[in-house]
Amino acid sequence: MKKLIAGNWKMNGGLEANAALLDALAQGLVNPPACEVAVCVPAPYLAQVQLLRAAKPTLSSIELGAQDVSDHANGAYTGEVSAAMLKEFGCRFVIVGHSERRQYHGETDTLVADKAKAALASGITPIVCVGETLAERESGHTEEVVKRQLAAVIHTNGHCISEIVVAYEPVWAIGTGKTASPEEAQAVHHVLRGQLKAATDQFARVKILYGGSMNASNAATLLAQPDIDGGLIGGASLKAPDFLTIIAAARN
Ligand code: PGA
Repeated sequence: MKKLIAGNWKMNGGLEANAALLDALAQGLVNPPACEVAVCVPAPYLAQVQLLRAAKPTLSSIELGAQDVSDHANGAYTGEVSAAMLKEFGCRFVIVGHSERRQYHGETDTLVADKAKAALASGITPIVCVGETLAERESGHTEEVVKRQLAAVIHTNGHCISEIVVAYEPVWAIGTGKTASPEEAQAVHHVLRGQLKAATDQFARVKILYGGSMNASNAATLLAQPDIDGGLIGGASLKAPDFLTIIAAARN
């Protein structure tokens, strides 16, 4: 299976900065790259990136993703963006259940599962984030937490579960410079793989990404783990040379 390196720009960027970043990526990218590549951009910039991709063939190997989606199809939900709207702007992926949304927007396991379902219904691959807090890790609850989070998505999505991407992102490693060691990450990925295996015989199709301070120096060892199928990259995806180094590390 090809690895997937997805950038999560979070609430960063601007028209000029985005164009410059994508230009630098287009110049540095070996075409076609050895892995799948995506950038998940703030919603207002989806149109810009869609246009740039259409205008520059070198950008066509970078897939477009969003960072959130409504669980509703349409209607009186002020401020929300539907999966059908994301699809119109060329989204292949959407991140759901990022810990920043769980933490700052009160997103529950059930809501995250419904968002994944809405994405799948529009033909968009949800990148479902799971991960424990530092307190949960220190009290020995890591496995229980990530399994509970993934179980909700499995329960709601049934056999479609083989169409999702999972991202294991320990909350304590996000934006902190603290990365899970390759062994710590691999151990959790192995648990998640087992859970997917029990849920679908198509489990081998599901990529499990690692996220949380993955950078140009630690990517290769993390990506060498047998159950790490790619990365969800925050900070380092905003710097073209770093993101390109991570992409180059994601050979099979
Ligand atoms: P980080 O963020 O790489 O900056 O730690 C990863 C993420 O939150 O997806």
